Amino acid sequence: MEHHIRFDADAMTLYLLDQRALPGREDYLPIRTLDETIRALQVMVVRGAPAIGVTAGFGCVLALEELRRGLPAGADWRTAYDRALERLEAARPTAVNLRWGVERMRALWRAHAGLEMEALLPVLLAEAETMRREDVEICREIGRHGASCINDGDTVLTHCNAGALATAGYGTALGVIRGALEAGKKVRVIADETRPFLQGARLTAWELRQDGIDVRVACDNACALLMQKGLVQCVVVGADRIAANGDAANKIGTFGVALLARHFGIPFYVAAPLSTIDPRTPDGAHIPIEERPDREVTHVGGTRIVPEGVPVFNFAFDVTPADCITGIITEKGVLRAPYGPAIAAALGA
Ligand code: MRU
Repeated sequence: MEHHIRFDADAMTLYLLDQRALPGREDYLPIRTLDETIRALQVMVVRGAPAIGVTAGFGCVLALEELRRGLPAGADWRTAYDRALERLEAARPTAVNLRWGVERMRALWRAHAGLEMEALLPVLLAEAETMRREDVEICREIGRHGASCINDGDTVLTHCNAGALATAGYGTALGVIRGALEAGKKVRVIADETRPFLQGARLTAWELRQDGIDVRVACDNACALLMQKGLVQCVVVGADRIAANGDAANKIGTFGVALLARHFGIPFYVAAPLSTIDPRTPDGAHIPIEERPDREVTHVGGTRIVPEGVPVFNFAFDVTPADCITGIITEKGVLRAPYGPAIAAALGA
């Protein structure tokens, strides 16, 4: 599953596997413009922090191509492109990989400031492809390091989807599971269903099933019982943004899982690339939490399940404090508390 984000350079079109339709249908959505890229991110055709970052890289290419084709003669493309990149960066607020991806492309543009659009396009496209390729390699490294955190015979609980679909391929949390399996360990997975978008039930279950990995889906509210029954030996989740002190934002419900893991003495790992660590965010209180449309909560499929007129909460993420985290598994190794210095050292390396 390394082709769910792919770019056709002849057609200047990005093809995204539409994650809204999984597991029922495997539809690829063609994306040709900046607006289409922003919308695909916002409605979650593609989602998951590293996948968002990689998509943003291709979005920067599409935005430039759009200006090249459509800008009125004499207009200042550099100002227009700056504005386009700012709009892309703001598509979703929590996953810092979006800003990271756009900043990487912007830095490359600045380094080639003298180039006109025609010459700049292939430079940016090559970088976006590099970002995609590197992301898979980074996930494999996360898997290699994370394998040591899993014992032979463990059942690992995960929340949301931090798998191949949430990255350019292989996954972060699911990369750790794949790494443990490749190291010869026997591992079973429990996927929390992850209301309201059901990333666990729909996406984690789908991609693990495709790979023949033993997976069983549980309602989000079954977590305490499963742990009490001794059915979970380890938790591994992804992250959307890790603050400088190690506090980690991930899909809503993750903090509850972490508290339960602490109660039951079960190790709780966060697996993420260094690009998900944001040294500019000092702690979890400073991480912006996305609020998504009510409809995701009020409806299941097309059916309303909350009475008309009743307000709902739809915070998309919560923040797990660093002191609930056993280790942060990165491509540079497993970081341990105290996370401030461990993170500073990993980012400085
Ligand atoms: O709203 P989503 O589906 O983009 O949220 C995704 C998550 O919370 C993932 O766990 C996180 O981005 C890590 S993906 C490797």
